[in-house]
Amino acid sequence: MKRLEGKSALITGSARGIGRAFAEAYVREGATVAIADIDIERARQAAAEIGPAAYAVQMDVTRQDSIDAAIAATVEHAGGLDILVNNAALFDLAPIVEITRESYEKLFAINVAGTLFTLQAAARQMIAQGRGGKIINMASQAGRRGEALVAIYCATKAAVISLTQSAGLDLIKHRINVNAIAPGVVDGEHWDGVDALFARYENRPRGEKKRLVGEAVPFGRMGTAEDLTGMAIFLASAESDYIVSQTYNVDGGNWMS
Ligand SMILES: NC(=O)c1ccc[n+]([C@@H]2O[C@H](COP(=O)([O-])OP(=O)(O)OC[C@H]3O[C@@H](n4cnc5c(N)ncnc54)[C@H](O)[C@@H]3O)[C@@H](O)[C@H]2O)c1
Repeated sequence: MKRLEGKSALITGSARGIGRAFAEAYVREGATVAIADIDIERARQAAAEIGPAAYAVQMDVTRQDSIDAAIAATVEHAGGLDILVNNAALFDLAPIVEITRESYEKLFAINVAGTLFTLQAAARQMIAQGRGGKIINMASQAGRRGEALVAIYCATKAAVISLTQSAGLDLIKHRINVNAIAPGVVDGEHWDGVDALFARYENRPRGEKKRLVGEAVPFGRMGTAEDLTGMAIFLASAESDYIVSQTYNVDGGNWMS
């Protein structure tokens, strides 16, 4: 039996990478999925490739009007909203003495404010519907401890873990489960960009940082987006109804908590 049959999901930042893999997995499990992304062309392409149960929605998580319009478009298209995945995020890297306010403000606007206000808009819709819901926030192992060159991103992901805890406690009375996934290192375009930044700041050849972080994973390799889909389906399904405010590490053994 499909585990998300008849459910309506919205996944932010799902035109590529982990979000896209989640969209494919949710469709396989019977859901209708809004591919909500700032890159609307790529979102349209992803939706067309995934099939008729996926559709593209223009969304910039840093703008309240865009958040509200994306939720409204989802409700109109699918008749409601049952599952939100707050997946859109940005990475940056710099030594403490080189951090800029611009980078700080951009990362916090997308990773933290974007997560909070999309969660808020989704929760309002779910409460109005009166049938509960599932909200999944994408955290990171970077939210579990600081990293010398990654101060801002780590702080944003620590904030996501904390917001997950508070929102989960507040919303469970409406039968809305809020939980998070903390991936480790996941191969893809995102990590190609991370690798390029490490190459610059640690004076390494391109590809070396990626190879080293993969070798350091207890499982023996970097993760793939597909490695995360089992947890994403579980947290979106009725099987996780009694799970509140948790952040699950899906990282090949990198972190234990
Ligand atoms: N890849 C990893 O190693 C890794 C590790 C830990 C956590 N994560 C987290 O998992 C999530 C997905 O990561 P990914 O590797 O697929 O990232 P990615 O960079 O490949 O994809 C991010 C998507 O978000 C979209 N986006 C960016 N700004 C947006 C905005 N303002 N509004 C709407 N959409 C926007 C982008 O267009 C893109 O499609 C992120 O939250 C990331 O922090 C990733």
